[in-house]
Amino acid sequence: KKEVRILAYESSCDETSTAVVKNGCEVESMVVATQIKSHQRFGGVVPEVASRHHIEVISQITTKALEEAKVTWKNIDAIAVTYGPGLVGALLIGVSAAKAASMATGIPLIGVDHIMGHIMAAQLTAKIDYPALALQVSGGHTEIVLLKDATHFEIVGDTRDDAVGEAYDKIGRVLGVNYPAGKTIDEWAHRGQDTFNFPRAMMEDDNYDFSFSGLKSAFINTCHHADQLHQSLNKYDLAASFQAAVVDVLAKKAIRAIKQYHPKTFIMGGGVAANRGLRDRMKIEIKQLPSNFDLKVILPELKLCGDNAAMIGAAAYNLYNEGKFADLSLNADPSLEL
Ligand code: KG4
Ligand code: ZN
Repeated sequence: KKEVRILAYESSCDETSTAVVKNGCEVESMVVATQIKSHQRFGGVVPEVASRHHIEVISQITTKALEEAKVTWKNIDAIAVTYGPGLVGALLIGVSAAKAASMATGIPLIGVDHIMGHIMAAQLTAKIDYPALALQVSGGHTEIVLLKDATHFEIVGDTRDDAVGEAYDKIGRVLGVNYPAGKTIDEWAHRGQDTFNFPRAMMEDDNYDFSFSGLKSAFINTCHHADQLHQSLNKYDLAASFQAAVVDVLAKKAIRAIKQYHPKTFIMGGGVAANRGLRDRMKIEIKQLPSNFDLKVILPELKLCGDNAAMIGAAAYNLYNEGKFADLSLNADPSLEL
C-alpha cells in the first residue's frame, strides 16, 4: 500500500493535540489545544487540572483534525497515541480516546513513546539517514540517544537530576517569569552577557550524562545573596549566563558523542530544541567538525519542538511499517522508557 495515513493523539502533559500525518512525513493537519494559562497561576502543571482539560477538548479536536486534513475515518489506516512517559491521568485521556476510536471503527491502534515522538519530529522536516544521534531536550528529559534505525533506540547519556527544561522553568520562577519560562529566558539571554560564570557540571567527564541541579542552585543562591544585600542584578545577564552554561554543556557532550558514534544524521528534539542559543551553537560546532564527518543536521521547525500529535504520527508510521500494533489492553505507562 502506497499511502499510509495516521490519526495521532498526544495528551501526556499540558497540551492536547491531534494530527493527521501521511507516510510519516507529511502533516495534513495538526491541532494543539494548550492549557498553559490554567497552570500558570500554580507555577507548573497541576495533573488533575490537566486531565480535566484534556477530556473537555479531545473529541472536538479529533473532529477538527479530520476536517482540516479533509479526510474521514475511512481514510485513516491507523490510530496512534502517546502512552508514556507523562502524567498518568493526562495520558489516560488520550489512550482512552484512541482505544474508543479504534474499537468503534476497527482501525488498528499503535502505542507511541513520547520521547520517540519528540525525536521523530525530525522526520517531518527531512529524511533521517541511519544511524542517527539525537539530543533530546525537554521539560522532563535530557538525553543523548543513538538511533540504529527508525524504531531501535539506545540511550547513551541521560541527566542525573533535573531535566534542562525543568531547570529553565525553575530559574525562570526566581526571575518572576511565567511557566513555562524557557522561551522568555532564551530571549533575555540574547540581550545580556555571560558575566556570572555559572558551573558547567560534568562537562569534562568521560561520559554523556548531564547534571543541572548544581547550576540551578548556583543561580538561585546568586539571586538570594543579592536580595539579602539589597543589590539588584541584571536579569538579562543572569539569563545569558545561565543559558551559556547550559549550551556549553549540551553542545560539548553532543559533539563528543558525534565524534564517537559517527552518525549519518544529527537530530534535536523536545521543547528546549526550540532554544535559539542551542540551535545556533550546534550549527556552528557541527560546521567545525573535520571533513570526514558528512553529517546531516535536522532541527525541527519550532512549532514541532514542543508537545504535538504530528510527531506521534511520524513515529507511529515507523512502528506501522514493522507491524508493531497495540490491542485494546494498551494502558498508560507514566514511567515508560525508550
Ligand atoms: O517538550 P516539551 O513541550 O514538554 C515536555 O515533554 O517536557 O518541553 C517543554 C519545556 C519547558 O520546560 C519549556 O520551558 C522549554 O521546553 N522550552 C524552552 C524553550 N522553549 C520551550 N527552553 C529553552 N529555550 C526555549 N526557547
Ligand atoms: Zn514533550
